[in-house]
This record gives sequence, structure tokens and C-alpha cells, in this order.
Amino acid sequence: MPPAKLSYTDEGPKTGPPVVLLHGFPLNSTMWDSQAKHLVSKGFRVIRPDLRGHGKTPAVAEPATMAHMVEDVLILLDKLKIDRFRLGGFSVGGYVALELVRMHARRVEALLLVDTRAEGDSEEAKTGRRDMIDQVRARGNIVLVEAMLPKLLSEQTRKQHPDLVEKVRKMIMDTPRDGGIHALEGMMARPDQRPNLGSINVPTLVVVGAEDKITPPDAAQILQKGIKGSQLRIVTGAAHMVPVEQPVPLNHFLDHWATGFADKKPGMPWKEAA
Ligand code: MLT
Repeated sequence: MPPAKLSYTDEGPKTGPPVVLLHGFPLNSTMWDSQAKHLVSKGFRVIRPDLRGHGKTPAVAEPATMAHMVEDVLILLDKLKIDRFRLGGFSVGGYVALELVRMHARRVEALLLVDTRAEGDSEEAKTGRRDMIDQVRARGNIVLVEAMLPKLLSEQTRKQHPDLVEKVRKMIMDTPRDGGIHALEGMMARPDQRPNLGSINVPTLVVVGAEDKITPPDAAQILQKGIKGSQLRIVTGAAHMVPVEQPVPLNHFLDHWATGFADKKPGMPWKEAA
């Protein structure tokens, strides 16, 4: 099967250190708007693809495995002549990032894992995904809005920020229907990355919303314990979507992630964020 040609944005100075940000399911690259703006203001070049079957990138006729999505992203980065980069992944973007660093460790300078996990799907989770696929086939993406919005955003965010609720709802409804189905199939088949965490040898920041029920703080702790020298930030006032719900603290952490390790050896602990 051919790789997918990814729609993407490429912002900031072409000479700036490249940062690649991978979004979650069933979302798109606009979920990183605040982080991209912030990093560009600090002189970084920020590349944000829409993964296959999400946002403006059409679906490809097969399960969107993590390996396929890694291949799509690297084809894009090769086209842009970007060899090494800082890599951030949110949720399924984190699953893709973990597979990318496993397969192509040399290319990754630093890793950011936001609201994601290393474990593969449990049997219960797989059953839930199968059911979700059937429902999306029958009723469309509104099923994803109904099932996921209350978990993506905290109750507080949903009450206080109707604009953010609308932004997330729109991202879900804009996801091509087959793209969502293929991503669900791909996530079901994803590998357990726990055995590989010990090989990650780049500065790594793990961030999770305190109220995240999709990839809870326990899952973030597994990442932090498994990746030597990594740091964990648990962000209050957020459920699953820290980049959208709590951009101010996240952008602050990113300053340390993207710049704080420049003169440090990989694997060394970073300076604590104030
Ligand atoms: C995501 O936000 O990317 C997904 O909810 C992750 C998942 O379902 O495992």
C-alpha cells in the first residue's frame, strides 16, 4: 500500500531548530495551535502534519498502524530535508512518536509525550474499539463526539470554555469517517512499547492532565519510570487535552524541553521548571 501524502503546516524560520508535533485521534494539527505559535515566537521551526485520515489528509485504504504513520511522517520530513528534530506526540501522536524513536532513534533529538501511554490495548479496550467502529459506520462521527468529548475536556473546561468545546467538536466532525475507523483499527494493533522505553536516550518530557481518564497519570508514570532521565509534569485543570485546556503551563514546560537541554548530555535530568 502506498504511504499517505500528509497535509501539514511548516512555520517559523527555516533555519530554526525543527520541532515536529503529532496530534491525537480523532483530531488534527490545529490542536497544537498555541504551542506552535509559542515555539515559533522563540525561533523554532514547527512542522505539524495531519496524520493519515485526519484533518486535511485523506484516509488510505488500510488500518493506520503506527509503523505506517511513522513512514508517512518521515517521508514528509525527508521531503523538507529535515534530518534530526525534536518530536512531540499527543495521545495517538505519542504512540507514533514512541514507534518512530524505536525505529529511527538517531533522528530524534528530544521527545515530548503528552497524555499518552506505552502499553498496547487491553482485550477490553479492543472490544470497545470494535464497538466504536460499528457505531461510527452506522451513525458517523457524531458517535465520536458523544463518546469522547466528555473525556477529552474536563468538566471545568466544558463549562467555562464553549469556544474550546466547539473547536474540539469541529476537529472530530472534520475527521474523514474512514480515517477515524482506520485509526481505531491501527491503535488496536499497536505494539506494547514498555520493553523499549529503556532504550530511549534523549531528553524526554512527559506531561499529563491530572483528570485524564483516557491516558491517566498512572500511564504517564510508567513512561517516566521507563525512560531514563525523563521528567513528568502533571497539569491540574485538564483532562486529556492539556495542549488545548492548559496551554500556558505546557508552553512554559516546552521552553525547558526545547531549549533547556542544549548543553546537557542526553539522559541527564533537566532544570526544573519554576
Ligand atoms: C487519542 O486521543 O489520540 C486517543 O483517544 C488515544 C486512544 O484512544 O488510545
